[in-house]
Amino acid sequence: MKIKSFLLIILFFAISKIHISFADEAKMTKGLEIFNETAGCAACHVLKAAGSEGNIGPNLDTVAGLNYDSVMDIVTHGLGVMPAFGEDEILTKEEIDIVSFYVANSVGK
Ligand code: HEC
Repeated sequence: MKIKSFLLIILFFAISKIHISFADEAKMTKGLEIFNETAGCAACHVLKAAGSEGNIGPNLDTVAGLNYDSVMDIVTHGLGVMPAFGEDEILTKEEIDIVSFYVANSVGK
């Protein structure tokens, strides 16, 4: 009896892990599309994982301390010549979430 419920719990965690990684993979695919096409981040930024070579903004692979929150913040509000994708409604909140997830998980790869 005890072994059975233990195995069920293990199975449950295994399945939820697989589920999460599928969701993450879908987000990474969509994020790459937003980075290169929808938002055109690629035109201004180097990001090796995306194959982009823009040099108007900093090389995202070498920005120190870049993470999901910092990307969210700058993409929402912009900075200097970088457009405020959130404030100016160029991207939806969902697209900003996805592209920030993508960038934060792609730098240095
Ligand atoms: C028109 C060119 C342009 C576009 C398009 C653009 N950026 Fe930028 N980005 C810049 C510039 C220029 C800076 C530096 C701003 C400054 O420091 O004054 C910057 C800064 C950043 C930073 C902060 C880097 C640091 O030093 O902390 C991140 C992260 C970033 N951009 C991500 C993105 C993402 C993601 C997109 C697409 C949604 C994007 N950028 C689109 C020009 C651009």
